[in-house]
Parts: sequence; structure tokens; C-alpha cells
Amino acid sequence: MSENMIYCYSGAGHCLDMAKQIAKALGDTDIVMMRSFPAVTDARKAKRVGFIFSCMAGGLPGDVEAYIRELQIAPDAYTFAVEQYAGYPGCGLRKIDEIVHLDYWTGVSNHSTAIWLMPHKVTLPPTTPEKARQRISRKAAEVAAAVLAGKKSGKKPPKAAAFEQMSKGLGKSHARRVKTFKANNDCTGCGLCAQLCPRGNIQIIRERPYFGTDCIGCLSCVQLCPNAALNIGKITEKRERFPNPNIRPAELTEKVIHID
Ligand SMILES: Cc1cc2nc3c(=O)[nH]c(=O)nc-3n(C[C@H](O)[C@H](O)[C@H](O)COP(=O)(O)O)c2cc1C
Repeated sequence: MSENMIYCYSGAGHCLDMAKQIAKALGDTDIVMMRSFPAVTDARKAKRVGFIFSCMAGGLPGDVEAYIRELQIAPDAYTFAVEQYAGYPGCGLRKIDEIVHLDYWTGVSNHSTAIWLMPHKVTLPPTTPEKARQRISRKAAEVAAAVLAGKKSGKKPPKAAAFEQMSKGLGKSHARRVKTFKANNDCTGCGLCAQLCPRGNIQIIRERPYFGTDCIGCLSCVQLCPNAALNIGKITEKRERFPNPNIRPAELTEKVIHID
């Protein structure tokens, strides 16, 4: 087992890009993906255990909360978490803290991948995608330095009760929204969307994708489609996609990524 373990959830690759940057600075790190049940739950030999994830509807994405409850972490391990969000961090950090007790936690804003809601450029504070990526890289360096120094936040992440309420309806809203996913004529039937789906919710039949209702809203399918051919109703037809340019689609489907 590596000295450091980072548990990462990422939909369009932004949190994975950040996790890789932090792992490179720490050295000897396993990044364990949390898009589906993590391949490694026993982290008792790791000296440092981190969590890097995106805010979703004010809370934790996918089944991350349930997965974290399954982890085994040594009582003396150093724990840290970083959340990416578009406008507000919500209650995700607090939820993780309640399960594992975080020594150090922080957040950083990015453009929003929730492009059914608004164009990714409408984000707080306003900035360009390039500047947002630079800010995230600066934050990654700051986090790595803090983690190596064993820095403690000294207080709990905010409770954000209103966001806790908001994130409760998440599963149902994804199930509703996925009914409006549809491929347009730019779809070549390449099947990447089906390969990316962490739930196996997309079937390719006669070179067209068909969607079930088991959706966690990661939007990997919509964001990484090479032809931007998948839409959420009509609203995303003219909206630019916002995948992370440093992450290859195949990386998102890895179970564990080791960084020396
Ligand atoms: C379904 C969905 C819901 C989201 N909800 C929120 C939210 O409530 N608040 C927020 O600030 N950002 C929200 N975001 C934006 C993401 O947290 C942000 O874009 C993040 O950088 C995406 O990182 P990723 O590509 O690694 O998943 C949401 C994104 C998605 C796809």
C-alpha cells in the first residue's frame, strides 16, 4: 500500500486533475476513485488519507457518503479533504468530517459542470476557465504543502443545514433529469458515454445510446462526448461543454491511479 491514499470523486475530470497534482507533490500516492464503490476500502496502512470531490446540489456527490462509511483508516492517520464547487461549498466537507474527523479541510471554486442549470461561465467569482485552472493548481500546491507539514484546520467545516436539506432530493432529481438525456445526429455511436457511466446506465443499441434511470448526475457522458452530441432536454444544445483538458476519459474509469 502507498504512503498516501486519496479518495476522489470526479465527473468531468476537474477533481481528478487536482487529485493528481496533489499526489505528485506528496509522492507515493494511490488515488482511489469513488465514482462507484471504491476498489480499496482498507486504508489502515496509509499515513495520510485525503478526499477530493465536487459539490453536488450543496452536498456530497453520488454515493460518496456511503462509501466513506465503509473505509477503514488508522486512528493516527492524518486526514484531509478538498472540495471543488462553482458558487458555494455546501455541507459536503462537514459530512465527511462527521464520518472520519478531518485534520485539514479546504475548498476552491471552479466553473460549473452543471450545464443544464446555467452556462459554465456563469460562476462565482467570475473568471475564465484558464484562470480557474490556475487557481486550482495554486490551491493544490497549498494543500500538498499543508498536508506534508501536518497542518490542522483547528475547527470544523461549516454545518450548512440549508444545503443538507437541498442535497437530500438529489437522487430523485437525477432520476428525473436523465429521462431528458438524448443524443442528436452528431452521435457516431462510439459508445464512450456507456464506458464512462459509473452505473452502467447507458446501453448502446444500433449505435445509439439509451439511458436507464440509475443516474448519479456525474455528467461524464454529456461533458466528455467527443462530438458534444448528448443533450439534457433542449437547454444544453447551445451550451459549451466544460471537461477538464488534462484528463483522458479512460482515467475517469480507472479504479486506482498510482502516482510515484
Ligand atoms: C449535478 C451537479 C450539481 C452541482 N451542484 C453544485 C452546487 O450545488 N454548488 C456548486 O457550487 N457547484 C455545483 N456543481 C459544480 C461542480 O461542483 C464543479 O463544477 C466541479 O468543479 C466539478 O468537478 P468534477 O468535474 O471533478 O466533478 C455541480 C455540478 C454537477 C454536475
